[in-house]
Amino acid sequence: MTKKVFQRILYGGDYNPNQWPEEVWSEDMRIFKEAAINSATINVFSWAKIQPSEEEYNFTELDKIIELLSKENYDIVLATSTAALPAWMFKKYPEVGRTDFEGRHHKFGQRHNACPNSLVYQKYASRLAGKLAERYGLNPHVKCWHINNEYGGECFCETCEKAFRVWLKERYGTIEAVNKAWNLEFWGHTVYEWDEIVLPNALSEGIDYENTAFAGISIDYRRFNSDSMLNNFKMEREAIRNFDQETPITTNLMGTYKLLDYFKWAKEMDIVSWDNYPSYNTPTSYSAMCHDLMRGLKDGQSFMLMEQTPSQQNWQPYNSLKRPGKMRAQSYQAIAHGADTVQFFQLRRSIGACEKFHGAVIEHVGTENTRVFREVAELGKELTTLGDSLLEAVSTNKVGIVFDWENYWGVEYTSGPNKDLKYVDQIHHYYEYFYKKNIPVDMISVDSDFSKYDLVVAPVLYMIKEQLAERLSEYVKNGGHMITTFMSGIVNESDNVYLGGYPGPLREMAGIWVEEIDALAPEQTNTIAFETGEEYECQLLCDIIHTEGAEVVAHYASDFYSDTPVITKNEFGKGTVWYNGTHVEAEGLKQFLDLVVSERSLTPIVEQAEGLEITKRMKNDKEFIFVLNNNKEIYDIPKKLVGKKNILTGKMITEKDTLAQFDVMIIE
Ligand code: GLA
Ligand code: ZN
Repeated sequence: MTKKVFQRILYGGDYNPNQWPEEVWSEDMRIFKEAAINSATINVFSWAKIQPSEEEYNFTELDKIIELLSKENYDIVLATSTAALPAWMFKKYPEVGRTDFEGRHHKFGQRHNACPNSLVYQKYASRLAGKLAERYGLNPHVKCWHINNEYGGECFCETCEKAFRVWLKERYGTIEAVNKAWNLEFWGHTVYEWDEIVLPNALSEGIDYENTAFAGISIDYRRFNSDSMLNNFKMEREAIRNFDQETPITTNLMGTYKLLDYFKWAKEMDIVSWDNYPSYNTPTSYSAMCHDLMRGLKDGQSFMLMEQTPSQQNWQPYNSLKRPGKMRAQSYQAIAHGADTVQFFQLRRSIGACEKFHGAVIEHVGTENTRVFREVAELGKELTTLGDSLLEAVSTNKVGIVFDWENYWGVEYTSGPNKDLKYVDQIHHYYEYFYKKNIPVDMISVDSDFSKYDLVVAPVLYMIKEQLAERLSEYVKNGGHMITTFMSGIVNESDNVYLGGYPGPLREMAGIWVEEIDALAPEQTNTIAFETGEEYECQLLCDIIHTEGAEVVAHYASDFYSDTPVITKNEFGKGTVWYNGTHVEAEGLKQFLDLVVSERSLTPIVEQAEGLEITKRMKNDKEFIFVLNNNKEIYDIPKKLVGKKNILTGKMITEKDTLAQFDVMIIE
């Protein structure tokens, strides 16, 4: 970011005074002040109120809300309201709704359900965004635009089908190229005219939502759908920019959400924001990974934590309360990994509809006299004392873990060898190791500049797109080090296999040939044995590997491929490629990665601190070390940190200091 975005940590969240009589608003202001709330995200779902009919716009209420918040010096995050359509629009123009995977065209109801290619939707959504920008864009309290809300889902309507053909023409040029890309000769599905192409849903090539007869077409449809929604975003952005060229523009993302290619999206956003909703049993490493991914989307730029619940959710099967201290710990975890805001959904709990049991800063009792409020208030005061000291602080890390959405789609669309292979789980399996070691990582795209990293970890890099193999090979030749795994180097961007032996274009660098891939059912396991003797269980998939120059680090210890290699290491140019042919249990992965890490001299931020989460951000030569205890055990403070200042308390850390569960220190 070139210009400074926020002057303080935004603390607040989704605020819907429109659901309440005006007397409540002033009470809200009084209560929020007690919690040092300085920001509100407004107008997320108010389209029907602002535009009660096709030709009528009414901003009376929003004017009042903005005036109130401006007077109170709030940093306003102004949403465009286009994620839930007014009923009149569905009634008059049924085409604005989506057709689902089964082919059912939807009526008015719910949200996040506009057909992204509907011209009517596009016209009215951008018109609304423009009107809002014209009216409020120059208000200095409006600090950020929030377009739509949690873009997602897919539409399979006829309008989209036509738009898909146009998109395909642009991508492929000729119908022959389409036939080739999708390998339509298989089952004789060859098409001769563009209008013979139908979109892949349950009525055509789609088997069910996760399975398809032709991955090539289904992956392209995902690309097209992601692009279509991104066009909606860009269209609203342009409408805003006609009136307001300054205020940063975002939309709230959802971590590893599958359907949208967030790396592509982030290029169009001024700042990334995202909604963090871990459930009671989500590992903290998983949340950390999502934060790192969100920071990685814009190459390390800090992001907004646009939503989290102060206490509980409503939409999970079991909506446990966040234990005392947990919300605070989660908030600092976000900041530790690059967030510059802490925002809640929501500020006041609604009285009806499906979110009435969703946590809020002000609960149904209507007062500040709750545990949740006290925790929110305490955090608010702390964040106020931090001022702007942490804003836009950065982290520079030596390990990059590759994440790629098109690969994600490809891996999970593919039929065979094992349906239980889940891309995000595989990424997390590796991430977790570095997390536990407190070796900080960047989550990076396949387009990243790999040379910034000592080690690039690319689990299940199934789809090797144009130039990627060359770029990885250059990186390693020039002294880079890389880890990859089973189901890598298999297909091109259209899901067609690279012939000549797995792992295709990675074969030479890895110095191996994978002859066969065995799939293990949940009740089956194999064993791997390191050359040094230790044995670990493995499951899911087992590559049967021949070395072609690589050294064997571990081999299988049972079944007909017992004694054949499973983990290998190959010197290539000035660098190394490590290959892991199976899904090995965490302890075994640890032994493997310990080896890589010690060879590369990758060090944790603080040595000997397992159990604590330790991260670092830097700003103007100042280093901030975040120490968090997510576990039940009480930990001593790592020796290295003794004598330094904890900026949350202003006190020096002594040898006697300990960290109980959810305790946080930020050390300067
Ligand atoms: C999402 C939405 C919000 C709200 C919350 C509830 O993140 O953006 O509008 O529904 O979920 O958890
Ligand atoms: Zn559609």
